[in-house]
Amino acid sequence: MSTTFKLNGRDVTVAGPDDSPLLWAIRDEIGLTGTKFGCGIGGCGACTVHLNGDAVRSCVTPLSAIAGQSVVTIEGLDPKGVHPLQTAWVEAQAPQCGYCQSGQIMQAAALLKSTPNPTDEQINEAMNGNLCRCMSYVRIRKAIKLAAAKTAGVKA
Ligand code: FES
Ligand code: FES
Repeated sequence: MSTTFKLNGRDVTVAGPDDSPLLWAIRDEIGLTGTKFGCGIGGCGACTVHLNGDAVRSCVTPLSAIAGQSVVTIEGLDPKGVHPLQTAWVEAQAPQCGYCQSGQIMQAAALLKSTPNPTDEQINEAMNGNLCRCMSYVRIRKAIKLAAAKTAGVKA
């Protein structure tokens, strides 16, 4: 079986059974390793990517669900790596070990698209399924608010 979909704006075709996880295709077949494997059961958020603009867990998204669809990974969020969230992440020094952080940023990017100026409560709710073993939650929230302010052109 093969599946064709758009990945970071380019058409790609991957081999594998219909029920093979998107995460395997992204990392093992295509070689984009920014998206991480954590739990494999949709419970940690490390593997978060965008499917047609929505945040999804790629470890539990089968290839059958993405045929002809548009997927964006951390590598494609901004071609130069200067998405407001990425620069805010650096400014806020959000990561510790870094393992969870691409998933955190992809989840946050989906949040800011639907809610450009989120409250602490809205951030907590949206980011609830993205776990960080290093407990960087406070800095992540700060970075999200910083990115929201950057996008709005105001001072955080
Ligand atoms: S690896 Fe996908 S949610 Fe944990
Ligand atoms: S920064 Fe280490 S798991 Fe989040």
